[in-house]
Amino acid sequence: MFNPEVYSNRRKKLGQLLNSGLILLPGNSETAFNYNANTYNFRQDSSFLYFFGLDHPGFAGIIDVDNGKDYFFGDEITMDDIIWMGPQPSLSDRAAKAGISNILPYKKLGEMIQEAIEKNRKIHFLPTYRGEQTAQLAELLGKMAVEIKDLASVELIKSVIRLRSVKDEGEVKEIEFAMDIAYNMHTTAMKMAMPGVVEREIAGKIEGIALSEGLGVSFPIILSINGQILHNHYHGNILVKERMMVTDAGAESVLHYASDITRTVPVGGKFSRRQKEIYEIVLAANMKAIESIKPGITNKELHIMACQKIASGLKDLGLMKGDVDEAVNHGAHALFMPHGLGHMMGLDVHDMEGLGENWVGYDDKVKRSDQFGLAFLRFGKQLEPGFVFTIEPGLYFIPALIDKWKGEHKFVEFINYDRVESYKDFGGIRIEDDILVTNNGYKVLGKPIPKTIKEVEDIMV
Ligand code: GLY
Ligand code: MN
Repeated sequence: MFNPEVYSNRRKKLGQLLNSGLILLPGNSETAFNYNANTYNFRQDSSFLYFFGLDHPGFAGIIDVDNGKDYFFGDEITMDDIIWMGPQPSLSDRAAKAGISNILPYKKLGEMIQEAIEKNRKIHFLPTYRGEQTAQLAELLGKMAVEIKDLASVELIKSVIRLRSVKDEGEVKEIEFAMDIAYNMHTTAMKMAMPGVVEREIAGKIEGIALSEGLGVSFPIILSINGQILHNHYHGNILVKERMMVTDAGAESVLHYASDITRTVPVGGKFSRRQKEIYEIVLAANMKAIESIKPGITNKELHIMACQKIASGLKDLGLMKGDVDEAVNHGAHALFMPHGLGHMMGLDVHDMEGLGENWVGYDDKVKRSDQFGLAFLRFGKQLEPGFVFTIEPGLYFIPALIDKWKGEHKFVEFINYDRVESYKDFGGIRIEDDILVTNNGYKVLGKPIPKTIKEVEDIMV
């Protein structure tokens, strides 16, 4: 954990951002996998981690905005707990680590909420993403489960996002620790990407690295010779020489901060001419977007710049045609890059997405587009120092999408479908880095992971 003052300061700041009422921040409980005693790996709620830091089930916190006090709810361990889990710290020891001294038994949580309801006080809570959380809130607030979604506090959502978006030095260090693990995962995957190997041998090996060096993966590993399937979790293919292997994988540090890196390598370690040509386009888009990062620019602008690189590279290869800017304005390039440039990253790999993607990624100044491709940009906002986010352009040949657009004669003025036909067996390429926005520019986080054609080929020999 960070120092106790880090957590008390965060709670204090949060309290100051709201007008009045109680802020209810429940921690997560254990969740059954296939029966109650066999649970999923426990994952604490990220906002609870941010404000209370305690990585155990069965806790909740309340910040009283009106009297400035905060309260921690939990139960002392029993002899049964000691028998099954060994000696555990007392509640007061745990609470001290979070800088909190008002400790109450868990059942008092319901009483405090009930009292607040009777006094007509506002109870702020965040959107839920697990059934157990919704059921708990419904019970505490005396509401139907279906009503909970609409009752989440927008004032609290915006305030939490304001605080969690800007990472401090300690948080950046944690992310860099997660990046070190990602370095080991990705360089291992590169060296293993040889013909005859089954994808799951590599996926399993690198998941093992994430588990042995940190808290495991920050999201299920995407590793495939079918990179054109954007989130491909199937790991049963045998690697063959003509294909490229996309590995999109990251780890969690011991305080649950994420890394999220994508690299694409030619199976066998040598790029063919066709692979080189497409790879260079994605690399140029990745580099152009990264080099343009500075406070004040919007991520939507970076996304457009990357798309322009993709479109102009494809035009040079004869796959697209016409005016590049016009093609991108109309969204024709989205046939090849039907996703956004990236997302915020922190305690969640898509940071704070559970609070609502539009609250995190957009605001009064930057609105989400409804154009195919650009609409999928999760994060379009103006960049500020302390933001950590991903830059992950990609270029894919998705046969079903190509057939659909071709059949509809869509953007025939910008797409050379005859030539695109001959790339339907190509697959896809994505290159992703994690970036910190600094006061006057940016910092690519972590030890550089091979990215240029030479670097990739050199590590794979
Ligand atoms: N790395 C997976 C994603 O960004 O969605
Ligand atoms: Mn990502």
